[in-house]
Amino acid sequence: MCGIVGYIGKEQAAPVLLDGLDKLEYRGYDSAGIAVFDGEKIQSAKARGRLKVLRELTHGGEKLPGNCGIGHTRWATHGIPSDKNAHPHFNESESIAVVHNGIIENYLKLKNHLIEKGYKFTSDTDTEVVAHLLDYYYKGDPLEAVVRMMHRVEGSYALGILFRDHPGKLYAVRKDSPLITGTSKTGNLIASDVPAILKYTRDVYFIQNEEIACLEEDSIHFYNIDGEPIEKEAVTIQWDVSAAEKAGYEHFMLKEIYEQPKAVLDTLNPRIRDGKIEIDELGMSDDEIKKIKKIYIVACGSAYHTGVTAKYVFEGMARIPVEVDLASEFRYRDPILDEDTLLIVVSQSGETADTLAALREAKARNVRTLGIVNVVGSSIAREADNVMYTWAGPEIAVATTKAYSTQLIAEYLLAMKFAQVRGTVTQQEIDEMVEALKQLPGQIELLLDHKEKIQRFANRYIAARDIFFIGRGIDYAISLEGSLKLKEISYIHSEAYAAGELKHGTISLIEEGTLVAAVLTQEDLYKKMISNMVEVKTRGAFLLAVTNMGNTEVEKAADYVIYIPKTHKYFTNSLAVIPLQLFGYYVALGKGCDVDKPRNLAKSVTVE
Ligand code: G6P
Repeated sequence: MCGIVGYIGKEQAAPVLLDGLDKLEYRGYDSAGIAVFDGEKIQSAKARGRLKVLRELTHGGEKLPGNCGIGHTRWATHGIPSDKNAHPHFNESESIAVVHNGIIENYLKLKNHLIEKGYKFTSDTDTEVVAHLLDYYYKGDPLEAVVRMMHRVEGSYALGILFRDHPGKLYAVRKDSPLITGTSKTGNLIASDVPAILKYTRDVYFIQNEEIACLEEDSIHFYNIDGEPIEKEAVTIQWDVSAAEKAGYEHFMLKEIYEQPKAVLDTLNPRIRDGKIEIDELGMSDDEIKKIKKIYIVACGSAYHTGVTAKYVFEGMARIPVEVDLASEFRYRDPILDEDTLLIVVSQSGETADTLAALREAKARNVRTLGIVNVVGSSIAREADNVMYTWAGPEIAVATTKAYSTQLIAEYLLAMKFAQVRGTVTQQEIDEMVEALKQLPGQIELLLDHKEKIQRFANRYIAARDIFFIGRGIDYAISLEGSLKLKEISYIHSEAYAAGELKHGTISLIEEGTLVAAVLTQEDLYKKMISNMVEVKTRGAFLLAVTNMGNTEVEKAADYVIYIPKTHKYFTNSLAVIPLQLFGYYVALGKGCDVDKPRNLAKSVTVE
């Protein structure tokens, strides 16, 4: 999705803006632009396509003098990707410049109203309405104009605003779209996401909903929606710059795949004490845990896939019925929720629009909510009754890997905690599971050590047209993720099927040489899986199997086997997903795809 960065200080602004936008590239974008104020006029440059084009256009920023500016990467929603629709947007006299993330939902009504008043629009965006509306309300006091604008616009926004009449000031505003400010040695910054400014500062202030920040070279003042001053405390970001940069890896995705042992360990460690599961942030007493009659797990994309796995784990271990739903479906289907329900929302970014809306829907119905979130201070983290953080660190590649793995860990831990409290497992079983969890980081490392084997295999499939992933039970959940990883970055059509369902239609697509990846990690389902594998093999499929060490039986049906180390039956997903991530990565790499920034996709989907 779109990215925002802004700077005011002693340095020339344009290079700082371009550098910040560079760090936001991972969010997905189709055009970029900057506006810089030299105290007299606001000059801008915009370009469709990659940031490189904007860099060339501005000679790395040199062409735009001035120590105050705003920058933006746009992911088109209203209006096609083009130079004219790229941000910043201006009022007619170019005395007000605006960059915007989010969607102004009542923009058409406002646009018509402004056109009637004589305003002329030059783009198809909803954002331009904000620039003209600010112009309409501006009578000499920028804060007043911003406040009045905020009372008129509906929807979501993070805005960076410059007023030509007020040199030395940069305004920032937000509602339902993330925005932070930070203080550095040479000045102050705004950004939609931490990595954009991490090079300059770790001391940030989170702007909350309907708040305004006014940045000057050496101060930041905050105001509420009525323009009254408010106080804020700075938060120190713990990540370092190298955590948000590639550190020698060819792609962020590969780096993040390799960070999984640490991410898993960091998510596990604080919650296992003396062999017991302790989740302090859960905020639920044992009595409250015992009362839960139903759990909903609601999320999007890969986070949803972790929910599909968690359903098997929760139901099997804690004997609580679990419904897993896509957030975009859940929010509109009038779900049956009551006081004995727990809603768990899972999100890496904590900003996914549908997941956030699902959370709000549940809260409005007085249902207890728990967020499993990676980004500290994000909207879901703030709004859920309780939040359990996954400690994956910043995830930059659009295709999630380490956040996915840590989400699984958080869900296992929760299921174990619930099972422990509800007495559905014995202490001995808990001990065995804790032991298995502790081994996961080392086992993931082991799998990563054999990446060349997967790379060789992947190279054979870069020209594939269709690939199928099949599994039963938890292995079906792994198949969903394996299939998504492959298709989102390699653009090869792929589908995941519950292995027993394949013959109800989809098997007709299997042709001579079609690759079918079969996942079989659940011992009680081995035989059934092998039957399903034979069904596709007799129709010409080439069979890749991912199975547990020791299950050599599989070699009778499979053409190629990847063995994963043995773990507890509930945790196999954490290991089986590793070769599937690597497979997707190497197929995409072999095809020459833009692995970290696949076409049409965004890291953080902040629109419906
Ligand atoms: C996007 C990303 C996916 C992610 C999904 C949910 O589609 O490309 O990798 O799983 O959003 O994002 P969230 O931040 O809520 O986990």
